[in-house]
Amino acid sequence: MPLVTTKEMFKKAYEGGYAIGAFNVNNMEIVQAITEACKEEKAPVILQVSKGARAYANHTYLVKLVEAAVKECPEIPIALHLDHGPDFETCKACIDGGFTSVMIDGSSLPYEENVALTKKVVEYAHAHGVVVEGELGTLAGIEDEVKVADGSASYTRPEEVEDFVTRTGVDSLAIAIGTSHGAYKFKPGTKPQLRFDILEEVTKRLPGFPIVLHGSSSVPQEYVEMINTHGGKMPGAIGVPEDQLREAARSAVCKINIDSDLRLAMTGTIRKFFDEHPDKFDPREYLKPARANIKELVRHKLVDVLGCAGKA
Ligand code: G3H
Ligand code: 13P
Ligand code: ZN
Repeated sequence: MPLVTTKEMFKKAYEGGYAIGAFNVNNMEIVQAITEACKEEKAPVILQVSKGARAYANHTYLVKLVEAAVKECPEIPIALHLDHGPDFETCKACIDGGFTSVMIDGSSLPYEENVALTKKVVEYAHAHGVVVEGELGTLAGIEDEVKVADGSASYTRPEEVEDFVTRTGVDSLAIAIGTSHGAYKFKPGTKPQLRFDILEEVTKRLPGFPIVLHGSSSVPQEYVEMINTHGGKMPGAIGVPEDQLREAARSAVCKINIDSDLRLAMTGTIRKFFDEHPDKFDPREYLKPARANIKELVRHKLVDVLGCAGKA
């Protein structure tokens, strides 16, 4: 099947009590690892591309890699999404350039400016058959080149969501309930806890509307240890507990963004490989196990966290 939008995926996910995995892609091995796992587990998937990914790999290369995955996996629905679109021009370039979904991230703007920018993107996207994700509330951590300090992160205000969705016409809404980007989400020694009360309030005000969670990596300690054992230094890297993500996936949350976990799997595997084989220098030899470990990690997410295995 050709690339799809997220419309149908979200409808089924909402009704079925599961979430779709949105995984960031930057190169061929990552695209292959994700889509092979999804194909084997019969899971719909969102492949997402950030501004940084477009700068690194080039828009055309990424679109062509995703088109190759679509050809190799005709039996599963795949959406191509712009992650954290920073402005109208970037969203337009992706809408014109083959994406089926874009995010316009106006979350750091004053409310009225976020509404105006998001509405402008929605009008253009909808006229071209593309769906739009907006965001209310800000997450701590690093979003592309924008670093949001812990103190400036703010939870989504449920009293704003109806007005925002109605006035902008967005198809899904990313909210801030305590997740954050990167590998250091919670302070060591504190209990990681998402604000399910905010999610519940939002859901009451937007019944049936798809909610998105960013910053949802769980930072597998297996890979943090692998990195630290083989020359890396990532003390105190902590993610969102998987049982809390599973709980979110059962609710109105239809899209869960995972990037850092894949990076950790790739980096850990490659560090270990080099440590154990200091004489090797063929990139295929170290990218192969890295790709295999990302694939198994994605499989675990589909089956045990998102609940979307078998839903394609
Ligand atoms: O939320 C951001 C994603 O993890 C993408 O990261 O901007 O480094 O590509 P990036
Ligand atoms: P993580 O850093 O938790 O993987 O979040 C990824 C994300 O939200 C991409 O938009
Ligand atoms: Zn994000």
